[in-house]
Amino acid sequence: MPLSARRRLAAACALAALIVPTGCEQVRSKIAPPQFEPPKITLDVGRRVESELGMVVSIDEAASRAGAWILAEGGNAVDAAIATAFALAVTHPQAGNIGGGGFMIIHTPEGEVDAVDYRETAPLAFDHDVFLDERGGLDRRKRSDPFLLVGVPGTIAGLHLAHEKYGSRSWNVLLQPAIDLAQKGFVVPPLLAADVYANREKLAMHPATRNLFFDAQGRPIEAGTRLVQPELASVLRAVATEGPDVFYTGWIAKAVAQHVENNGGLLRANDFARYDAKWRKPIRTEIATGELYGMPPPSSGGVAVPQILGILAGYQLGAIDPVGPIVAHITAEAMRRAFRDRAHYLGDPDFSAIPVADLLNQKHIDSMRESIDLARATKSGTLWPEPVPAGGTETTHFSVIDRNGMAVSNTTTLEQQFGGGIIVGGLGFLLNNELGDFNAKAGMTDARGNIGTAANLPDSSKRPLSSMTPSIFSRNGKVEVITGSPGGRTIINTVAQVLFRRILLGQEPTQCVWAPRMHHQWFPDQLVLERDRWPEQTIEQLKQRGHTIVYRDRLGSAQSIFRDEYNKFIGVGDRRRDGWAAAPNIILPAGYYVNKPKK
Ligand code: DON
Repeated sequence: MPLSARRRLAAACALAALIVPTGCEQVRSKIAPPQFEPPKITLDVGRRVESELGMVVSIDEAASRAGAWILAEGGNAVDAAIATAFALAVTHPQAGNIGGGGFMIIHTPEGEVDAVDYRETAPLAFDHDVFLDERGGLDRRKRSDPFLLVGVPGTIAGLHLAHEKYGSRSWNVLLQPAIDLAQKGFVVPPLLAADVYANREKLAMHPATRNLFFDAQGRPIEAGTRLVQPELASVLRAVATEGPDVFYTGWIAKAVAQHVENNGGLLRANDFARYDAKWRKPIRTEIATGELYGMPPPSSGGVAVPQILGILAGYQLGAIDPVGPIVAHITAEAMRRAFRDRAHYLGDPDFSAIPVADLLNQKHIDSMRESIDLARATKSGTLWPEPVPAGGTETTHFSVIDRNGMAVSNTTTLEQQFGGGIIVGGLGFLLNNELGDFNAKAGMTDARGNIGTAANLPDSSKRPLSSMTPSIFSRNGKVEVITGSPGGRTIINTVAQVLFRRILLGQEPTQCVWAPRMHHQWFPDQLVLERDRWPEQTIEQLKQRGHTIVYRDRLGSAQSIFRDEYNKFIGVGDRRRDGWAAAPNIILPAGYYVNKPKK
């Protein structure tokens, strides 16, 4: 396809993703189901799907189908989440991964809530000065060196940890959809083609990555072609049959470490051997007669989202236009204050004490609210003098619930789209560049808005602070909302806005996900609005209050599930980035096809 046609295709995709449909009807997929789906099982697939038998909503149709298929065979939400996560590693290499990390929140039907931290860790050889030159100044080349930024991937350890405790089906069976998608290939969706094109320079720099995403003439992969990944299939097959050890202490760890070392990075095989995914206690806050569960540090959303919602809950906003100037102004001010706290206090809890309880104390939240002037935007510089950096552009979130009400909220990332672009020859998967999430230099601030607070400085075996915010809201132990998003720092505000609309304003699920979004992160001191989505009058009044407005085409991609008043699950795929909901419409006897119960 010539360049101009490819550009037109990318533009058409972006446009299609932004068009918000007027109706809320169930949309049946017209795309042929992937090959792993056994005959006779039919799934409901669409942007908005209703079901009582469970639901998976993810960024990719094949991955949502993979999880829904596991549900259809009687697997539980954790089983389905594992299948979806591995499928995403094949079909959504922008962010789905086995070379990255993330967070998972699990809510059992009995109301127990657990969280898995499978964030990447820094190598042993990391220290505070890793991004500095000999004179102690920031070395921008080091700061963006993809080999230096590779952290020990946590995904396989994290999924396995969740499986050990909650899985009901054999581990190897849960990888089968992903293995089939890698081995037999899948039809490249327009989103993947557009993203490969947008990242073509980074991806073409690494030989194994170039071989995967470009043809012999050097042209990026096109939508509608088949992408077959035999090397990734072999890695997945090894993980399926041998378990995580082959990844952390076997040939896979050795091959990654060797490649990184050959290219000047610090990651070594013993860093893999020392990696542990961790159980964490979710942050629980009470709001709107329910309970909100979020991820504790090293994520920051579990603190920031309840702060934002706590500030908003103190106003009587029910009767006011949610896209009018008052709600928009207050929301922006709440975000500004939550991000001030985030920048100052949050980091890896295994390295410094994080005052989570103080940050969520009602008195603190009330004082944040009281400092808001309804008529004027607060200048961020008067709240705290240090600026913070802007967020990145790729991560992925998926939500799962099974028919018994067990729920999984999972966000995973390689940091940037396709991570640093590195695929190790023979392994077929992309490595993360997550360690760029550390602050670059102690005390450093600059015009681009870097920050140098101690809690998130690089250190040996430390986890960088994250904005990923998988969240679950329940009432009386029954899950009502599962949500999360990609979008760097915008994640926190996307999640806060979905939850705000559902639990404080009581809006219809589709509206909660598709309504226009905004973002304020304290510094840069500007209010980001989704382009062409906000009423002119609101924008005018925000400007009059003193907000500096900037526009972005889209904010976030919140693949979410809601429970309605009739106990029906409503899956809403966020069409900003091609989200798909999939639900089983039949539950088969366990092991009907290949889905063997766990021994
Ligand atoms: O963990 C974090 O906060 C980032 N590494 C996430 C990156 C991200 O979301 C980029 N964008 N979509």
